Amino acid sequence: MKYSDKVIPPTPQGITRAAAALADGALIGLPTETVYGLAANANDGQAVARIFDAKQRPRFNPLICHVSDMARAKQIGIFSSAAAALAARFWPGPLTLVVPRRPDAPVHDLVTAGLDSIALRVPAHPVARAVLAAFGGAIAAPSANRSGRLSPTRPAHVIADLGEAVALVLDGGPCKVGLESTIVEMADDGIRILRPGAVTEDMLAAATGRPILSNVNNDQIKAPGQMASHYAPQAPVRLDAGSAKPGELLLGFGAVEGDLNLSPAGDLVEAAANLFAMLHQLDQRQPTAIAVAPIPNRGLGKAIHDRLIRAAAAKDLTS
Ligand code: TXA
Ligand code: MG
Repeated sequence: MKYSDKVIPPTPQGITRAAAALADGALIGLPTETVYGLAANANDGQAVARIFDAKQRPRFNPLICHVSDMARAKQIGIFSSAAAALAARFWPGPLTLVVPRRPDAPVHDLVTAGLDSIALRVPAHPVARAVLAAFGGAIAAPSANRSGRLSPTRPAHVIADLGEAVALVLDGGPCKVGLESTIVEMADDGIRILRPGAVTEDMLAAATGRPILSNVNNDQIKAPGQMASHYAPQAPVRLDAGSAKPGELLLGFGAVEGDLNLSPAGDLVEAAANLFAMLHQLDQRQPTAIAVAPIPNRGLGKAIHDRLIRAAAAKDLTS
């Protein structure tokens, strides 16, 4: 298969082209340290509408707004001292803060889907930072996959799913984190995790000393995009598998070898970075199911579990 000529290197010219495409109302594939984003000018309603159209989101879920720094973030959201402390500790990085939206925020209403809160993030990836600097404004960017599909951690994943929709994809290499950002909001009684990610419960607790209220196993879904069917490959997914049944392919971890192994050393950081890319790879071989070896449910393992449970829930696999 021909590697699309829409994938361009992040040279100064490439960054300039990307910023110009955003200013023009086009969509681009933007590398971040978590996953690739489908990026648009957050203040351009038509451009933001194109994101929903391209992803075929079943409804208008609010999008994360990416900004270059705290000064920009404060033009868009209202930061309590607790929220500001988290930003100071974890930005730039894989943490998204949901804060009250400023009435005069230079962001189109479609980004927030009519909510009076807004999700903000300062990404750490040097290419994302270069584009934010060159573009100047806020960038709305969900993960660059069709709704319900796996998140992209390589330019080729973006092209395969959304090649028609993007003007270009900046090649930022494989995503280092490989899982979407941790999303939190401030509550009166602590910090609520709306989506687990690389900034773990322990890290949040250590940074703030405040109680962590986990939303992960709640029936009440606080992040509207956190539907059970997210992050699914085409093949059904079977969890906690010690071996593959006939027709299945096994995604290993640690000593459970598998057809591919998330981390032979049993390292959760390595496993997170490999998760989506390896699910993509196994899925392309069209197995009857993808069996996944047990992953420890601690630290970053909680975020991996969250994504795997959603992948498994998409198709009802009883056994
Ligand atoms: O790592 C990431 O966060 C990636 C990269 C591209 O930055 N982006 C990403 O965006 O994962 P997306 O759209 O796939 O997920 C955004 C999540 C959704 O679950 C959405 O419902 C939630 O954030 N969200 C956005 N605004 C919110 C708000 N005001 N309140 C609660 N949840 C919100
Ligand atoms: Mg997503």
